[in-house]
This record gives sequence, C-alpha cells and structure tokens, in this order.
Amino acid sequence: MGTHARFDPATASAIVAERKASPGALLPILHALQDAFGYVDRAAIPLIAEALNLSRADVHGAISFYHDFRAAPPGRHVLKLCRAEACQARGCEAVVERLADAHGIAPGATTPDGALTVEGVYCLGNCALGPAALFDGEPLGRLDAAAIDALVERASGGSA
Ligand code: FES
Repeated sequence: MGTHARFDPATASAIVAERKASPGALLPILHALQDAFGYVDRAAIPLIAEALNLSRADVHGAISFYHDFRAAPPGRHVLKLCRAEACQARGCEAVVERLADAHGIAPGATTPDGALTVEGVYCLGNCALGPAALFDGEPLGRLDAAAIDALVERASGGSA
C-alpha cells in the first residue's frame, strides 16, 4: 500500500470528466477514484452527481451498496478477510475473533496507528484453502490465530 495520492479535488474532477460520457460511468468513476486515492472522498460526491446528472444520494447509495468502495482512507496495509460460507465452515470467524480480542480490530476498521485496515469480503476464489485472505493483494490461506498475530505484527512493524 502507500501508493495512493492524497485526495485533491482537481485530480478528482479530471477523473470524473474523463469518464463521464461513457455509458454506465458511475462505477468506473468510483473505481478510478478509489484506485487513485485509496477511497472515495466525500468531496467527490457532488462532482460526480453533477457530471452524471444524479442526486448526491444516488452516488452515496452506490458507494455504500458496493462493498468494494471505501469512504475513508485505508491504512498502510489492507487485510481482506473472506467471510463467505466455505471460509466460515473452515473457521474464519475464529480469525475475526482473534483480531478483535487480541488486537482490537474489527472488519471495516483501521488501527489507530494507521498501519492496518481489515475488511470483510465475500469469496476470494480460494475456498479450498480457507480461511482465506488477501494481505496487500497477496493471497493467504489456512489462517489461524498465529498467522493473524504474525500479520498484525508485520503490518505495524513493516514499512508501508
Ligand atoms: S468462501 Fe472464502 S475464498 Fe471462497
């Protein structure tokens, strides 16, 4: 992580302007903003609404409906934990509990030092190796408490 630019309205406007003419532009615009800044800043909502002739509520609704989009900047590292059925059968909730009990981090939250954001996701296509996760895009499988402890350590000690 650590590769995102700080949000700035001029860049956001350029991203919106570049894509607004294509059909179904809303999701591509949201993805492009998130790729650029790591999240979709609230300040981009009126820009998008105006460009696409939508209400701000429509844009806000799309951001909250699709789990892919973040409304706040992520930590320096991102752990995406699968919580879908096959991983549940393999004990992913024990991993979620370990994160909460030993490290005070719940899915959807970022550690106070900004080192790690944990997000719940639904199937990473790695079901046979569940509980599965992605750590900064790197696929991980068979997570257990010890692996979680090591990852949290790596996130807070490792460089961005
Ligand atoms: S259910 Fe977790 S990777 Fe498929």
